[in-house]
Amino acid sequence: MNFFDIIKKHQSVSRFSNKAVPKDKIDRIVKAASQSNNGNSKAAIKIVVVSNPKKKQDIRLAAEKVEKAYYYGAAANRPESEPANDSAWQMPFLEEAPYLVVVCGPSGQPYWAASTWLALGNILLATNKEGLGSRCYTPTMATYLHRILNIPPKFMPIAIVPVGYSAEELFPSVKPEEERLLKSLFTGRYVWRKEGEEKSPK
Ligand SMILES: Cc1cc2nc3c(=O)[nH]c(=O)nc-3n(C[C@H](O)[C@H](O)[C@H](O)COP(=O)(O)O)c2cc1C
Repeated sequence: MNFFDIIKKHQSVSRFSNKAVPKDKIDRIVKAASQSNNGNSKAAIKIVVVSNPKKKQDIRLAAEKVEKAYYYGAAANRPESEPANDSAWQMPFLEEAPYLVVVCGPSGQPYWAASTWLALGNILLATNKEGLGSRCYTPTMATYLHRILNIPPKFMPIAIVPVGYSAEELFPSVKPEEERLLKSLFTGRYVWRKEGEEKSPK
């Protein structure tokens, strides 16, 4: 698969099937993270791969407790006409996905957040390459991850990436949508235009 086809495959997965994922795929995904660009060679990131069903359930329950409180707290200002939406805080994907890849950065070290996000980008791309689905879930509060996974306090979990096969059919973005996105990305001197399209007059 060509690099740009790998990028194009990206789509966030919400529901995962229980189809087994070969372990070597996860190994390659973690390796992709370890080879990412890092702003400080000493600022190693930490990746915890969770497959234990009890641990995944503990993480889902703790995450949903936090997200539910956040959702209903924020909802205090919601207009009455807008009904509460329980699917906003429910995260079955944390339990359904065969693997949760928890990405943690060495908080406080130079460039730690940017470097950890670059590693996370490699993880998302590597899941595409392996023909798997994923989602970038950024927990509102993550202290429960330190407790459940025994993560040392100096490492800050920035995202949980559930990895597995999608239970739902995915619809990759279509060409007109890609063109609209490209146009909205580039402004000023680097206006994107179709091949052969005339430069618009100033
Ligand atoms: C920085 C970042 C944070 C995100 N945080 C969450 C999150 O906390 N919960 C969630 O369900 N999805 C999260 N997502 C996934 C986005 O909701 C998703 O990418 C977006 O809906 C676009 O859908 P797509 O990925 O299929 O293009 C996050 C994505 C990014 C890039």
